Amino acid sequence: MKLLVTGGAGYVGSVCAAVLVEAGHDVTIIDNFTTGNREAVPAAARLVEGDVRDKAAEVLSEGGFEGVVHFAARSLVGESMEVPDEYWQHNLVTTLALLDAMRANDVKNLVFSSTAATYGEPEVVPITEDLPTKPTNTYGATKLSIDYAITSYANAYGLGATSLRYFNVAGAYGEIGENREIETHLIPLVLQVALGHRDKIFIFGDDYPTPDGTAVRDYIHIRDLADAHVLALETNTPGTHRIYNLGSGDGYSVKQVIEACRAVTGHPIPAELAPRRAGDPATLIASSAKIKEELGWNPTRTELTTIVTDAWNFTKNLGERAHSAKRVR
Ligand code: UFG
Repeated sequence: MKLLVTGGAGYVGSVCAAVLVEAGHDVTIIDNFTTGNREAVPAAARLVEGDVRDKAAEVLSEGGFEGVVHFAARSLVGESMEVPDEYWQHNLVTTLALLDAMRANDVKNLVFSSTAATYGEPEVVPITEDLPTKPTNTYGATKLSIDYAITSYANAYGLGATSLRYFNVAGAYGEIGENREIETHLIPLVLQVALGHRDKIFIFGDDYPTPDGTAVRDYIHIRDLADAHVLALETNTPGTHRIYNLGSGDGYSVKQVIEACRAVTGHPIPAELAPRRAGDPATLIASSAKIKEELGWNPTRTELTTIVTDAWNFTKNLGERAHSAKRVR
């Protein structure tokens, strides 16, 4: 398929773009490199640099596009509480422009990168897609609003779409892993301590209603996540908007993640208690039964140790590359 991948230089977008290229698709990426990395863009993909809001109509009007995979977004829970205007603009407004560009150019196949943050503090776990959506942070609210827009475009204009609600994506695929200028995610931060780039990890709150008091999340391997996008694209049906959760189905607390990183890296990883982070729910665990049943999605890297090991191999290589680049300078 001839595909547009927005945000294809970001962590999730670039792994999915690589997997789509490997599956034989013809991929054009739009990315403005706010958070993405140039080296993560697959060599076989075409790159259009700029904002999706400005570039989507221009690119899609070239003709022949059969689908869009939309990753470009701001995606940090904490930041979304501090600068909500940027989240509404970059997430909702940009996606509305993309939907209109798709409609104008008769592109009816969309996979949308969504989030578990749409559910908020769940009443029961694991979280199924029919549970109430009450986001506790602006990030989740922007992604939920986009789902409403997609549903109405599907009903009125024949769009065929799938929203994939990711739980906590982690791990690495080949040369691509979490490599952000400003890192806020738990696993890469803990591994930076093991690498000696940070002194310690802060645990944001130990008074949550969880077994050890720290927040519980469901970590999903980036490569398993990418497979779900390929399946969704191949099975979208015009006039239908499907929503699927993507997780491994197991919850791990912040303390358990730190412990797993200690075991994988052999580093003591000092940890210190800090206040809760605004907008963080206590427990997020996915039920992915629906996508397994309906699309045959079959995640194979569900062990936390596998996820952390792949992330650690990537982080070590990145550290070595940065070190030798400094030596060359
Ligand atoms: N945490 C710490 N210390 C840190 C960093 C994080 O204790 O230095 C804690 C957080 O408070 C949270 C947990 O570790 O309880 C996981 O935090 P992350 O920042 O790694 O991930 P989030 O759960 O906040 O968010 C991620 C994605 C969102 C997505 C969400 C869904 O970034 O896009 O998972 O589960 F919505």
